[in-house]
Amino acid sequence: MRVLAIPGSVRAGSLNARLLRHVAEQAPAGVDVELYGGLKSIPPYDEDDDTDAPPAEVAALREAIERADAILIATPEYNHSIPGILKNALDWASRPHTTSTLRNKPVAVTGASTGRFGAVWAQAEARKVLGATGARVIDTEAVAIALAHDAFDAKGRLTTTDHEVGLLRILDDLASEVERDARVPVPA
Ligand code: FNR
Repeated sequence: MRVLAIPGSVRAGSLNARLLRHVAEQAPAGVDVELYGGLKSIPPYDEDDDTDAPPAEVAALREAIERADAILIATPEYNHSIPGILKNALDWASRPHTTSTLRNKPVAVTGASTGRFGAVWAQAEARKVLGATGARVIDTEAVAIALAHDAFDAKGRLTTTDHEVGLLRILDDLASEVERDARVPVPA
């Protein structure tokens, strides 16, 4: 299974990117996690630019989603919601609405914040937005990394076993969704 891992933050020290790097390192055999790093170069959504020849960065994002069997998003929380930069990318990825690369794509959401709740509201917002795009949002119990500045050891590994278990469960549930897809016959 190829998983495209999208962090909702672009800063160099992003704890959400660290979380996804950790997932990539811990992923079981047969699960290939690719970290997406292009969020900052995606232009603001403009329907006038959303033509058959969209901006190159947008085409690259859509292709990366298309290539992936599943998507894992790790979002920070900005003012109880998702960062605008992540929403912007999801808006681009969601078009054309009926045939977008996100439609029917198995997607899971996790998140890390330095606050006490681990970006739970942002995670809920991300799931809502993804639901609107037609992505298949898996309903595994949320993994919310609270006080994220203290959640990793010096090697960038999570220090809480519960989080580890939760993240592996998310990968497992994504894999089940992908397998389910593979069993559905393609209409002639
Ligand atoms: C935050 N932060 C934050 N945290 C939280 O738990 N709830 C919130 O509503 C907010 N709001 C918020 C707004 C803005 C504009 C910033 C910059 C930050 C803190 C945030 O969770 C923290 O900076 C994370 O570490 C950001 O994620 P990355 O960049 O480390 O991945």
